[in-house]
Amino acid sequence: MADFKIKIRRMQKGDLDQVERIEAEAYGPHHWSKEAFANELTNSYARYYVALNENDEVIGYMGLWHVIDEAHFSTICVSPDYRRRHVGEALFKRLIDDCYENLIKYITLEVRVSNLKAQHLYKKYGLKNLGTRKGYYQDNNEDAYIMWSENIFYDKFKQIYDKNVRELEQKIEIETGEEEKAY
Ligand SMILES: CC(C)(COP(=O)(O)OP(=O)(O)OC[C@H]1O[C@@H](n2cnc3c(N)ncnc32)[C@H](O)[C@@H]1OP(=O)(O)O)[C@@H](O)C(=O)NCCC(=O)NCCS
Repeated sequence: MADFKIKIRRMQKGDLDQVERIEAEAYGPHHWSKEAFANELTNSYARYYVALNENDEVIGYMGLWHVIDEAHFSTICVSPDYRRRHVGEALFKRLIDDCYENLIKYITLEVRVSNLKAQHLYKKYGLKNLGTRKGYYQDNNEDAYIMWSENIFYDKFKQIYDKNVRELEQKIEIETGEEEKAY
């Protein structure tokens, strides 16, 4: 029985102050602004989700862009107080489910070469480093790995996904909010 419960729903304009606070804490001066997230919410190719605690406070968020049959994961962040409690993985699962719902076949993302925590999460779901973008991050000129999934409808991906989700649901109870439009 899971001992921690969260809710995941689409990000809304009213969440943006809390999202920006978490973003600033995680990324410092180079964080995305509230306006940048507000723009994302008006982009019909983008999907952003938030995770909420029992007091309906935002404790994490994640987003993607649909590009034909690919999903480009654009951001993921969990409030430092809630890290290592499966919130990041629950958000990641929500975006994979979004891909299944929208018949998106492939997931891709960029990640700093130094960000081993995030790479562990992506590798847990079978994503692989298939390239490097030199000096991709402007703040310190750090390289990015370009990671890709298998076709998520293939058995190879599904088996990993099913096993991980079974284990995840033992550890955290995830309520899924209604599909509310951002605006
Ligand atoms: C990366 C991040 C989103 C992970 O969120 P989280 O809620 O702490 O992660 P979870 O508890 O759901 O962990 C899921 C998996 O991620 C990996 N992981 C997360 N934290 C890790 C750590 N400190 N060390 C090693 N692996 C870690 C593991 O594979 C873990 O699976 P496991 O529990 O079976 O070991 C979080 O550390 C974060 O917000 N970091 C700052 C923002 C960032 O770096 N975003 C990524 C940009 S590409």
